[in-house]
Amino acid sequence: MDNPWVTVPAAAYERHMEHESVRQGEMIRQHLARCLERFEPESLLYLGAGIGNGLESARASRLRDILAVDVNGEYLATLRDRFAALGMLRTERCSFPEGFRDAARFDMAYGPLFFEYVDLEPALITVASHLARKGHLAVLLQQPSEQGHMTNTGVTAMEAIVPIMFLRDPRAFVDVAHRVASLVPVATEDVASPCGKPFREVILQKA
Ligand SMILES: C[S@@+](CC[C@H](N)C(=O)[O-])C[C@H]1O[C@@H](n2cnc3c(N)ncnc32)[C@H](O)[C@@H]1O
Repeated sequence: MDNPWVTVPAAAYERHMEHESVRQGEMIRQHLARCLERFEPESLLYLGAGIGNGLESARASRLRDILAVDVNGEYLATLRDRFAALGMLRTERCSFPEGFRDAARFDMAYGPLFFEYVDLEPALITVASHLARKGHLAVLLQQPSEQGHMTNTGVTAMEAIVPIMFLRDPRAFVDVAHRVASLVPVATEDVASPCGKPFREVILQKA
């Protein structure tokens, strides 16, 4: 698949995300735990699931079906190893949205640091078509920062993704989601990573 993410090894990705100057794995773990508590979904479409940050919270939740989607097969293999004990876990390797084949509908779609890398309109249309009625889409959007798009952790493999990373203005994101996919905004909130990098949480709902 012609996507720079497939060139970033899982170990390099994790080293970057857990680096003391990034700590975004921790942010996603805490954020998904909060979303599962708040919305109590029984099914979850995890977009750009990568190595599965946040799935630690699945066991204590009401989830009965989790589909983890990612373009990088090594990430999904890591995720399957780590969360093998979760009986409800399925994975699909694809380039989202055009390669996505699963037919299920989900109570929640979750995309932390994901919509920066995909074609926005088709991705939102596809997500909405896989949400159950009243289902939620919860996202974390990276915001502009003096620290730059990509914190330098010395993990050079991460440089490959900088050219395909587009920060999303949250208001424009909400407008597009409403216009093309009839998703209704429920809440938006500023979220800072443990290292102070700014993100915006956006929660949308299918009517
Ligand atoms: C910044 S990471 C998200 C964090 C991840 N959930 C974690 O556990 O740390 C972005 C993820 O999106 C995936 N990705 C990027 N573009 C994609 C696409 N078009 N289709 C599917 N996955 C994609 C990447 O492989 C990567 O795992």
